[in-house]
Amino acid sequence: MSISPESDEIKYAKGLEGVIAAISGISFIDGDQGILVYRGFSIETLAKHSNYEEIVYLLLHGELPTRPELEELTNKLKEYRTCEALMPSIRSFPKDAHPMDVVRSAVSLMGIYCPDKFDFSKEIKMQKVLRVVAKLPSIVASYDRIRKGLEPIEPDNSLNHAENFLYMLNGEKPDELSAKIMDIMFILHADHGMNASTFSAMVTISTLSDVYSSLTAGIGTLKGPLHGGANERVLKMLREIKSVDNVKPWLDEALEERRKIMGFGHRVYRAYDPRAKILKKYAKQLGEQKQGDLLFEIGEKVEEYMLEKVGAKGIQPNVDFYSGIVLNHLGIATDVFTPIFAISRSAGWGSHILEYLESNRLFRPRAIYNGPYHQEYIEIENREGE
Ligand code: CMC
Repeated sequence: MSISPESDEIKYAKGLEGVIAAISGISFIDGDQGILVYRGFSIETLAKHSNYEEIVYLLLHGELPTRPELEELTNKLKEYRTCEALMPSIRSFPKDAHPMDVVRSAVSLMGIYCPDKFDFSKEIKMQKVLRVVAKLPSIVASYDRIRKGLEPIEPDNSLNHAENFLYMLNGEKPDELSAKIMDIMFILHADHGMNASTFSAMVTISTLSDVYSSLTAGIGTLKGPLHGGANERVLKMLREIKSVDNVKPWLDEALEERRKIMGFGHRVYRAYDPRAKILKKYAKQLGEQKQGDLLFEIGEKVEEYMLEKVGAKGIQPNVDFYSGIVLNHLGIATDVFTPIFAISRSAGWGSHILEYLESNRLFRPRAIYNGPYHQEYIEIENREGE
């Protein structure tokens, strides 16, 4: 039975705003206070004391690992870093493809090449998640080099996840600060409650589809500018603004035209996004090291003026605002920003789908039908315009 607009059953929430779609113990957001917690640990504590590998364990298993548990997970991630089976395809992709499309296609291809593709046991599902977490940095780095006419670099297993990614991207081992910032970037993006891409991954797994299909769905959803794709657009915006003096006129015009300012606003946060607070510190530090680079100054002015104009409506900087500036300072191409978000979020998506499968229920919402009823079928030769 369809639900008609006159039905008493109507409880319609556009964009599922405020709808509770699952019960989860993975991460918690208090949007009014600007708090983000993974498994009970504040994001500030984790950014200060932890590392991405530990976060992967924490999200997937619900508690911090012991030393042997962390070692086992780290070794697995290292073992899975290589992606020989995918390389012929990655090499064949057009050089002008968006790296997010490459990431999405490569994870989909992983489903074809996975040696355990027909094994749907719980243990193997966990291995599949780890395969994606481990291979994403290699995929992103390899494609970035191939499209520049360079040879991809083999992973270096003496390096951690963040260091190895930068090494595979740039061909040289990163300095300590760059490696630490990339690690923090991975920590901060690893999970974020019930967001669009996580929901998308969960919808797919709820049909009892496979891990790769589910994570591919998550990647496709993250790509959009209202979600993970905003970081790339932030940088384009700051470059377009060009100077600190141009911030006010540029924003006045954009707001007048009711354009969304990228890197601002959030469905859940009304307070300052705690991830943006952490990243702002690094954006400033890196900006100060780069003489003559105005990106941070322009960004800070954008923040100041946005808060003055629309801050009272709860529109504050989100994670994407300062992440773009930080990644740009690390010398990373703008279109690789969202893939970096995906590299990190793969752990969150994986944790949510495995958690959801523990008490799976097919996602099957309904829609209000507002089309016509009782139409008379007219044969094609008798239709108007014949
Ligand atoms: N710039 C200007 N106005 C905004 C913005 C913005 N970035 N965000 C919200 N508003 C205004 C919007 O115009 C509306 O105003 P009014 O009530 O006068 O019509 C009001 O705030 C509510 O906006 P909304 O679009 O209904 O709110 P939402 O909950 O659907 O939006 C959002 C959340 C993230 C889609 C939106 O804030 C946005 O488009 N931001 C820019 C894109 C962006 O930075 N996305 C990254 C999100 S954080 C990373 C992630 O988790 O993916």
